[in-house]
Amino acid sequence: PELTRFIAGLPKAELHVHHVGAASPHIVADLAARYEGSTPVPADPALVEKFYDFRDFAHFLQVYLQVVDLIRKPEDLWTLIHGVGGDLAAQQVRYAEVTVTPHSHLARGFAPEEICEVIEDARRRAETDFGTVLRWCFDIPGIPGPPADETLSIALDQRPDGLVSFGLGGAEAGVPRAWFAPHFAAARAAGLRSVPHAGEVTDAQCVWDAIRDLGAERIEHGIHSVQDPALLEHLAEHNITLDVCPTSNVRTGAVPDLAEHPLPALVAAGVPVTVNTDDPPMFGTDLNREYAVAAELLSLDADGVADLARTAVRASFFDAAGKRALL
Ligand code: ADE
Ligand code: ZN
Repeated sequence: PELTRFIAGLPKAELHVHHVGAASPHIVADLAARYEGSTPVPADPALVEKFYDFRDFAHFLQVYLQVVDLIRKPEDLWTLIHGVGGDLAAQQVRYAEVTVTPHSHLARGFAPEEICEVIEDARRRAETDFGTVLRWCFDIPGIPGPPADETLSIALDQRPDGLVSFGLGGAEAGVPRAWFAPHFAAARAAGLRSVPHAGEVTDAQCVWDAIRDLGAERIEHGIHSVQDPALLEHLAEHNITLDVCPTSNVRTGAVPDLAEHPLPALVAAGVPVTVNTDDPPMFGTDLNREYAVAAELLSLDADGVADLARTAVRASFFDAAGKRALL
């Protein structure tokens, strides 16, 4: 209880959270009510929480896309992003790198400029209204061809002020990281940082591929690195941070249960890790709960928890002045 209060009051940074996955159940229910008759998503927040019961990773992705499909107008996207800023501030999150999948909106008729104008306006308003600084990671939804190409194009052609990094999400099995090597090379050449998902539901080889083929500087999840001692050594030596999301891994079935979560083994191997939510309401969690889960798994006291929070600031892509203000 005392540690819980300490965590709740601790200023934190969140480095792995998806914009649609962070939408509060009441915003999702409001959108479902607006589009009733053309969505399987329930129009009641309590039922939305029940709807988030995933059989496995594939089912999670399917439900995620049903929520994505509720964002049909610019104001839907604005309200979602602004609300996420408010929810993060309520958790004492002062800085967040939010993964946006532009393809989700391009595929539903949004123009590239429109997506960027809306999220940038919501980002600035959230910072003014709530004090939380948001930065963007634009990610490829694990689909080669036009979806990958248009993700790169919107990042480089629009280059919104808040954009700091380039990512890769969606399905991992049967989706070789190397497919996207040209996209990451171009994004990195333009100064964007590389943060692909890897080793979430597949193996350590996927993490090696993310490092070698995509120049990963941090890895989203990366938990299956634990299978390969040489990889653990490489991550530690090159200071490649894993942005770990414990409850997400249990709720999607990536890990059988919390007791078997690799987080303690990763930390024991000297791998830099941060603790994050991924898709907080979808997994019935928030950043304070994830910090409590990590404290339990790692037997941390308040000092240990504060160290975890500082690791996230250091591993972030915030500018030097922003980092100094948070450390
Ligand atoms: N998109 C949203 N959450 C995700 C996850 N955990 N893995 C891959 N893609 C995602
Ligand atoms: Zn993720």
